[in-house]
Amino acid sequence: MLSSRDKKSIWHPFTQHYTADDPIVITHARGASLFDENAKEYLDLVSSWWVNIHGHAHPYIAQAIAKQANQLEHVMFAGFTHEPAIKLAEALLAIAPAYDKVFFTDNGSTAIEVALKIAYQYWHNQGQNRPRFVAFEGAYHGDTFGAMAVGKTSGYYDPFFDLLQEVTFLPFPATWLEDTTVEEKEAAALIALDLYLEEHANETAALILEPMIQGASGMAMCRPSFVEAVFKRCKTAGVLTIADEIMTGFGRTGKMIACDYLNGVYPDFLCLSKGITGGFLPLAVTLCRDRIYNAFLDETYAKALTHGHSYTANPLACAAALASLDVFEQEQTHQKIAALCQMHQEWAPRLLANPDIERVRHQGTILAFNLKNFNPGQTKKFKSLVIEAGLNIRPLGATVYILPPYCLTAEQLHSAYVRIIDCISQSK
Ligand SMILES: Cc1ncc(COP(=O)(O)O)c(C=O)c1O
Repeated sequence: MLSSRDKKSIWHPFTQHYTADDPIVITHARGASLFDENAKEYLDLVSSWWVNIHGHAHPYIAQAIAKQANQLEHVMFAGFTHEPAIKLAEALLAIAPAYDKVFFTDNGSTAIEVALKIAYQYWHNQGQNRPRFVAFEGAYHGDTFGAMAVGKTSGYYDPFFDLLQEVTFLPFPATWLEDTTVEEKEAAALIALDLYLEEHANETAALILEPMIQGASGMAMCRPSFVEAVFKRCKTAGVLTIADEIMTGFGRTGKMIACDYLNGVYPDFLCLSKGITGGFLPLAVTLCRDRIYNAFLDETYAKALTHGHSYTANPLACAAALASLDVFEQEQTHQKIAALCQMHQEWAPRLLANPDIERVRHQGTILAFNLKNFNPGQTKKFKSLVIEAGLNIRPLGATVYILPPYCLTAEQLHSAYVRIIDCISQSK
């Protein structure tokens, strides 16, 4: 059995192996569906940790990778370059024209790490020591040390607290449908930011936030006007801003990037990963403006950015990303995204009316709600029932969310909602 061989030799991420069920062995996938070794089908309602956007094993992206693999699989990225990276950088800068330069890495955490390092060294290169960062309570930015520090309050890193650098956390004004307290929460958060900036702006390298949706801390959503107000205040105070769009990029929120909701206010850094290759290969980017880049130019190496990875800008991953962008055009993906948004919107009132559900919220292709008054035993039961029902859903505590590949059909989403509601009532 593959699952017992797995148990013997593999340590899985975010898994308590002492109590975890055996992992499900997936043998193949197509569209929005995963298939296990017994041919059981699971609708991938979380896009396999939010990476898959056009559906699994998309033939066009698969072919693009195969073609690239036969031509150039990899070359080191210092002193060398290649067409797929250049074309991809140009395409990304066309999607996000507020930026001028693209720095490649290979996962979301390192894209964040790079933004934090560039922000710090930007000031350092100009003779300023700015050791402080500011972030939002509950934020999750990845699992490397810098990313953990700015995500310290996400609840994932307790054993490492003593090793994490000091970061100031501001309240995040999470909101949901029929929330009557959103203005109050936003005002309190902005006052906290103002007070912080008054005292510490000159020592602060950057503020980081997940624009509009804090993912891993429970799909907590805030209004775009709040994000805009935060970025504007930082700009006035001379503090750099980092948008962590690792999850929200590539159409997740209804627009290509969540920052497109901000009325022309763009942060200094934009971090993208996850959906960038359509879910095929690891790749990430940190975008910034020439104003930042130019502060690293000098006759000496001392001002250069000393950061890089063996697989930086891997040509196969770049080819997959370019193919994924082609698919957006070829398959009218923006229409599919709009259709998903519409379907979530139609389901929201039905969910709101369910007595076991609270805090319904949705943005673009993501809908989330909380299980009301569920104890941990009931939540655990819900988790196994949905898997039995053929749905790949991975609740975050009491938060259930749907974040599907954009190819999910109306029938599939409708049937998923019906099954979810049924599992909720069975788990009580
Ligand atoms: C908003 C956000 N930032 C950063 C990360 C880290 O990305 P990765 O898991 O690729 O390191 C994640 C992953 O879930 C994320 O959701």
